[in-house]
Amino acid sequence: MAENNKKKIMLTGDRPTGRLHIGHYVGSLRQRLIIQDDPDFEKIFIMIADAQALTDNADDPEKVRESVFQVALDYLSIGIDPKKTHILIQSQVPALHEITIYYMNLVTVARVQRNPTVKSEIQMRGFGEGSIPVGFFTYPISQASDITAFLATTVPVGEYQEPLLEQCREIVRKFNATYGEVLVEPEIYLPENKTCLRLPGTDGHAKMSKSLGNTIYLSDSEEVLKKKVMSMYTDPNHLRVEDPGTVEGNTVFTYLDAFCTDEQLHEIAPDYETLEDLKAHYRRGGLGDVKVKKILFRVLNDFLTPIRERRTYYEAHPEDVVEILREGTEEARKQTEETLKRMKQVMQIDYFDQWAEKFGTEA
Ligand code: TRP
Repeated sequence: MAENNKKKIMLTGDRPTGRLHIGHYVGSLRQRLIIQDDPDFEKIFIMIADAQALTDNADDPEKVRESVFQVALDYLSIGIDPKKTHILIQSQVPALHEITIYYMNLVTVARVQRNPTVKSEIQMRGFGEGSIPVGFFTYPISQASDITAFLATTVPVGEYQEPLLEQCREIVRKFNATYGEVLVEPEIYLPENKTCLRLPGTDGHAKMSKSLGNTIYLSDSEEVLKKKVMSMYTDPNHLRVEDPGTVEGNTVFTYLDAFCTDEQLHEIAPDYETLEDLKAHYRRGGLGDVKVKKILFRVLNDFLTPIRERRTYYEAHPEDVVEILREGTEEARKQTEETLKRMKQVMQIDYFDQWAEKFGTEA
């Protein structure tokens, strides 16, 4: 009944530390486009998490500031529709930061220390024992605030973010049990295609990341894309065209799995009906890397062409982008203020309202 009619709410976000790449696309951005057209969703929010980006980029605020606008362009260029999806800037929504303060009391230091995502990030960033910023260490708590302040049910993010969602659900349970049922437990929303969970870099490294220089950006030009694809990692033992090749762990095939449908392949290379046919040919021998790379280039270029076109439009109309961010941030303020108000009520720290009732004073 009432429960069943309850519509879903999406909230997700990205740290603005650079432009978004095709790994972001298959891991999380594509899911947002699906949700955008799903009538079960009542409200949809995407957050540019600049405050979170600053937790481990304190010495490079310029990079974060520039990336806020670039990430907004990335969203709009992939087809995020501001009529359906609110795009907001985290630092401009005060309730998020206020809520974080209260959540900090519901989480132990030991619990944060155990978080596998934080652990591996501390390692990756090369933070030594004595150099972890408090803000970085506690960002999972702030992220729980990001999600719950919107009463989000659904969070499309990369699989590696699951421990943060688990942390968030724990906070929700603790808050609701301690004070009263206000908050909603969110769920992660992952791609169905398992290849998309973690797209490797163009060099075959398990992760695509700017620091490794193995990314393909959504904003890459045709020329840059061609260069990157043609120098991609394949099967190091596939030396001559006639040699049998291996498809597993071969990045070119992994990308085809993530981006290319059978129909598309057949259109580009009519000799093949399905991706499986292409793989079989490669395994058998007689199919060269260059030919497969050319197919992949076509697939990715067809994918990026409309994205580049929309980006060019918005780059020429920055005032539209600013308006979209202003509107999204405004809506986010409303939504989060409302949640914060209800939280303060059940926490009974709405003193002036309580005294108004008790003493007839001004609320
Ligand atoms: N941690 C996310 C990332 O690294 C960014 C993020 C911030 C986020 N707040 C969020 C994701 C809330 C989902 C929900 O990309």
